[in-house]
Amino acid sequence: HDANPHVHELVLHKGFWLINGIHDLDDVDQISSLETRDSDVFVVTYPKSGTIWMQQILLLLEAKGDVTTISKLNNLSNGDLIPWIEIKGGRQSFITASSPRKNVSHLPYHFMPSSLSQKKGKVIYVARNPKDVLVSYYHFHKMAKMLETPKDFNDFFEKFLKGRVFASSWFEHIKSWYSHKDDVNMLFITYEEMIQDLQAAVERISLFLGEELSDEELSNTVKHSTFSNMRKIPQASYEQVPGDLLDHHQGRFMRKGTIGDWKNHFTVAQNEKFEEHFHREMMDFPLSFIWDI
Ligand code: A3P
Repeated sequence: HDANPHVHELVLHKGFWLINGIHDLDDVDQISSLETRDSDVFVVTYPKSGTIWMQQILLLLEAKGDVTTISKLNNLSNGDLIPWIEIKGGRQSFITASSPRKNVSHLPYHFMPSSLSQKKGKVIYVARNPKDVLVSYYHFHKMAKMLETPKDFNDFFEKFLKGRVFASSWFEHIKSWYSHKDDVNMLFITYEEMIQDLQAAVERISLFLGEELSDEELSNTVKHSTFSNMRKIPQASYEQVPGDLLDHHQGRFMRKGTIGDWKNHFTVAQNEKFEEHFHREMMDFPLSFIWDI
């Protein structure tokens, strides 16, 4: 029992945990039959893997690095400007948006437009090492009023490994997309490589999107998408989100933005359990992650 009146229950839909009232199940089911266009861009992430960051980069690339263009859009947050396709109203706004249509999604592969597999549309999959995802997601659960506050870290740790959270299992999510990386027009990029060399990451993204920017426009894009600069922009750090959605007393959405914070949270036993689980799940996937720097 949770005393917070804003909590929404999770609903298991076709094997995937969604949020009751935030996602409309019928609407979600219709996403797979959307007709995509070559110019469409889908940013796909498991929660807490750098969604808001990729939104910021895409907005800046479109604005040729001019951050004032974005801030002129009043109070619209990154999430309003490049919305989630699975959140109520998201599919409809995607359909009516003008090209190039951009959206983000936490859905696994099989829910997404099947025309993506004819290479119609671009997918940017952002992956983050799952130990840091877990920690970030734990803190987000304390902030987000719609999600149940974890009893303690270990309680959340167990739920994460079981995939008993919104967006289900991190392992299933990445495998569902990674196993189709050659079927769709996909840029697979990691949070860690963005941390380590943001300039190179931004160049890769702009090349993939076919956006032509001058060196100065690119370096402005990089400048305004660093952690410290995004933190200064309320719309790019969700600081303007009302308190009944995000409890800003519990911390900041732009919390730490580092690699390896899991070391400050995991016990030795939890780390062993996690490693075992990771190796069992990821055995057949040639993916390696940067766990700390
Ligand atoms: P932490 O909680 O570890 O700080 P999402 O947008 O998918 O919910 O991901 C949020 C996570 O990405 C948070 O992680 C947030 O701080 C981090 N993040 C957002 N913008 C970032 C940036 N410019 N540089 C580094 N990390 C960033």
